[in-house]
Amino acid sequence: MTLPAAPTACHADHAEYLRAAIVAHARVAENTWRLRLDCPALAAAATPGQFAMLRIPDRSDPLLARPLAVYDTFAGSSGPRYADFMYVVHGKFTTALTALGPGDELVAWGPLGNGFGTEPADHVVLVAGGIGQTALLALGRERLGLARYGTAARTPPPARRVTFCWGARHAGMFADVEDFRAAGCDVHLATLDGSAGVRGTVVDLLDGLFAAGLPEPHATRVACCGPEPMMAAVGRWAEARGLACDVSLEAPMACGVGICFTCVAKVRDGHGGWDYRRTCIEGPVFDSRLIEW
Ligand SMILES: Cc1cc2nc3c(=O)[nH]c(=O)nc-3n(C[C@H](O)[C@H](O)[C@H](O)COP(=O)(O)OP(=O)(O)OC[C@H]3O[C@@H](n4cnc5c(N)ncnc54)[C@H](O)[C@@H]3O)c2cc1C
Ligand code: FES
Repeated sequence: MTLPAAPTACHADHAEYLRAAIVAHARVAENTWRLRLDCPALAAAATPGQFAMLRIPDRSDPLLARPLAVYDTFAGSSGPRYADFMYVVHGKFTTALTALGPGDELVAWGPLGNGFGTEPADHVVLVAGGIGQTALLALGRERLGLARYGTAARTPPPARRVTFCWGARHAGMFADVEDFRAAGCDVHLATLDGSAGVRGTVVDLLDGLFAAGLPEPHATRVACCGPEPMMAAVGRWAEARGLACDVSLEAPMACGVGICFTCVAKVRDGHGGWDYRRTCIEGPVFDSRLIEW
């Protein structure tokens, strides 16, 4: 197997450090909130799979910003203006965030990271676990020709079809799944307790979906985001079928810009070895074959 070249660091050329007002904030599923920020520069530059480091200003606890994927961007009357984020309440930052509302401000630094590429694919299969769908909606909308992201230089070839497979523990965890249907994705769900879609994991779902007719390997590309064991399983599933698979890693991050090395992942070098790579600037999106799971 020939591995692709190890990724190079992005330069965050379009990243802005700004204060952004919250314009909408609501609970959208169990323990899950959706946030809209007024941040034109970030909205204009973000591409699918990129993220922003967010923190609550004028507070020292939590001290460090936290990374959230840019879920989607929206235009105002004079061009790109708003960016949406969706998050699960985990710890200090996300708990404190739930108390904020329209008019409050956040500090945002972004967009950051190497997001999804623009390789041609006739059929794009988006695979999410848990809150991993946040990295995938914009990619689906872009490939189906519904939205453009970033600069005019970004011209991804359209896909004929986008399939979205989403696995969660139970039905109450699916947030705004209609966004994917409205984008024209072919949506399939799996839950461990069988409360929505197929009972089982998202890999069971993929097995069932493609048992009858496997995707055409050279025309299909998988894009995946979720818990690490799930991404490893999806990467192996894709590799076994000869499908290219990009994974968006969610390593804990302290700085988001390549300085602290808290976010490293073991990435293969193509010569039988591996080295640590910084998920924040050399990822978060990697070819799954490069990851030493
Ligand atoms: C590129 C990227 C994009 C992300 N996008 C989203 C998103 O769109 N929505 C979302 O809900 N979350 C996302 N995350 C995860 C999010 O950044 C963490 O959940 C964040 O730490 C929550 O902050 P907190 O202060 O509430 O919890 P913390 O106090 O930071 O953490 C609470 C607990 O979760 C653990 N933890 C922290 N970060 C992670 C992680 N990345 N993976 C596994 N365990 C972790 C901690 O060790 C701790 O035990 C993303 C992470 C990355 C790297
Ligand atoms: S988060 Fe600091 S180097 Fe990646």
